Amino acid sequence: MNSGYNSDFESVKGKCKELPISDQFIQELKARTAIEEVISDYVQLKKSGRSYMGLCPFHNEKTPSFSVSPENSFFHCFGCGAGGDVITFIRKIENLDYVEAVKLLAKRAGMTVPEDGRDDGMGRLKTRIYEANREAARFYHKQLYTPEGERALEYLRKRQLTEKTIIHFGLGYSPTSRFELVNHLKSKGFSGSELISANLANQSKKGYPFDRFSDRVMFPIIDLRGNVIAFGGRIMTDIKPKYLNTSDTPVFNKSRNLFALQFAKNKANGQLILVEGYMDVIALHQAGFENAVATLGTALTNEQAMLIKRYCDEVVICYDADEAGQKATQRAIGILRPTGLRVKVLTVPNGKDPDEFIKSYGEQGSTRFRMLLEKTGNDIEYAINKLRAEFNTDIVEQRVEFFNRVVPVIAGIDNTVERDVYITRLSEELNVEKSAVANLVQKNLHRKQNKLRNDAQRQAASELSAINDRMNKEKQFRLRAASAEEALLAVMLRNSDVAGKIVKNVNPELFITSFNRRIYEVLRERVKEGREIGIEDISGDFSIDEMGRITDILAVRPRENDPFAAAWEYVKVLENERERLTPEQIEQSSPEELNEYIKRLRKMKDKG
Ligand code: CTP
Ligand code: MN
Repeated sequence: MNSGYNSDFESVKGKCKELPISDQFIQELKARTAIEEVISDYVQLKKSGRSYMGLCPFHNEKTPSFSVSPENSFFHCFGCGAGGDVITFIRKIENLDYVEAVKLLAKRAGMTVPEDGRDDGMGRLKTRIYEANREAARFYHKQLYTPEGERALEYLRKRQLTEKTIIHFGLGYSPTSRFELVNHLKSKGFSGSELISANLANQSKKGYPFDRFSDRVMFPIIDLRGNVIAFGGRIMTDIKPKYLNTSDTPVFNKSRNLFALQFAKNKANGQLILVEGYMDVIALHQAGFENAVATLGTALTNEQAMLIKRYCDEVVICYDADEAGQKATQRAIGILRPTGLRVKVLTVPNGKDPDEFIKSYGEQGSTRFRMLLEKTGNDIEYAINKLRAEFNTDIVEQRVEFFNRVVPVIAGIDNTVERDVYITRLSEELNVEKSAVANLVQKNLHRKQNKLRNDAQRQAASELSAINDRMNKEKQFRLRAASAEEALLAVMLRNSDVAGKIVKNVNPELFITSFNRRIYEVLRERVKEGREIGIEDISGDFSIDEMGRITDILAVRPRENDPFAAAWEYVKVLENERERLTPEQIEQSSPEELNEYIKRLRKMKDKG
């Protein structure tokens, strides 16, 4: 099969020894890796003073708040709070484990991860799931050529798929008996629980695994690195559900992947075609439109829009012509446009989906679709045409209503020249003075901009507090303590000599919020083992979100002139805070206890 499976996948196997990847290796890797170069593979960066700025790839934004500092080797987004070192960046953007991200970067730097580079528990399970999926894809494909699978092969041929296409997409068949795949994979050394984690098997009431897919045509879903991550299975009759898909697993998130992107990304040439179904993608690829992709049985998500944005600058939405398809189109425009993509809409005539359309023209299918593609209007034309169809512009009242509805659409165009083109067209079509149209558009524009500004401010503020809450829930109740803790951690991260002194003298118990205490414990452990604790050294010890919070702490804090003195100030604040009760504790205390407490506070105050 040549479905883009990763051929050197096998090499990952058998590296499960006890040691983590050495600090030395990681340091060497980082020394050879320029963070700004890695990130510019994903984000357009502009030099700005000593750092680089760009549009954040982790949330939608129009003005750059994503900064990369080559000096400190870290990135930070002031909009959404994402941040960390280059490994954290790769983990987040490629959705990888720590070890996987290190491997990817090592490959880029021409280094080989040493044999003792062990996968952590989750990494190990993911590797096993990839292997099981890959073996399952082979198994399903082979079934097409068995007597039982003949019906499925026949079905695919009836849908006019060629042998080449069937092989190219690695299509297959899942047998009726509920045990064949499970037995096959068990004979290859996979455990029942691995198969259940991969969602290749379900668990019976009695606890044994049985095949999830039965008597279906199988569509493997493959990620950008060539791993089989999931399957879609289509029933060959009218029984529902028509499609059964792999649920989310440790290696599969249906809102973060797109069907056939592993092929389409190389053929995009600036443009991707977004369709609804697996069969639409396959028919289009077979007809020569190898830049088609589809979502995986769910509505388009922001994450998928960002993914599309990475590989092209123009997207053609080509959903079904039915009402559901048109609703989905409106929604998709709203998600794709804010990413800065040019959006076009292709409506297939006569209520057909792209697959049916191509087939209905036989030999000519490809040419016909090409013609549709060429006369495709952009999303603005699509919206205006839709409105025009709703109103009869020969009747004055309806013409006015049409006009009122079109103005906000035109006001939604960012580009002034483009806006002017539509203003001119509209004034000619409706026979209205151009300046009158322009005036109304302008008014609408101001209203929109004001609203946008307010929304953006509100959102930024709430996002920020949400992030804080999520990572360190206690912070809102113990603001002073948490701030001192963060300041102390920042000093340590920046000054290893200070860190050395602190860990000898400060117990983790001094930390009041458990999130910061955990960071401190990890740092302390590392210092005691004589390992580095720069921001670039510690990313293996924290989750992506935690790393984001830690770089946040560093980003908002100026450097202290005298780090030693500052550190002891922070420790003093913490000792002082330790004595304070939380609001809940105060509520639950008896009057006597509270009296004692107030006395203690006074004493502390006197001492300074
Ligand atoms: N889908 C799904 N589960 C269903 C129905 C649909 O996950 N029960 C998803 C599948 O990804 C499918 C897409 O939605 O490819 C579009 O559905 P539909 O248009 O009904 O299917 P087609 O791909 O056109 O399949 P076919 O032509 O075989 O009917
Ligand atoms: Mn279809």
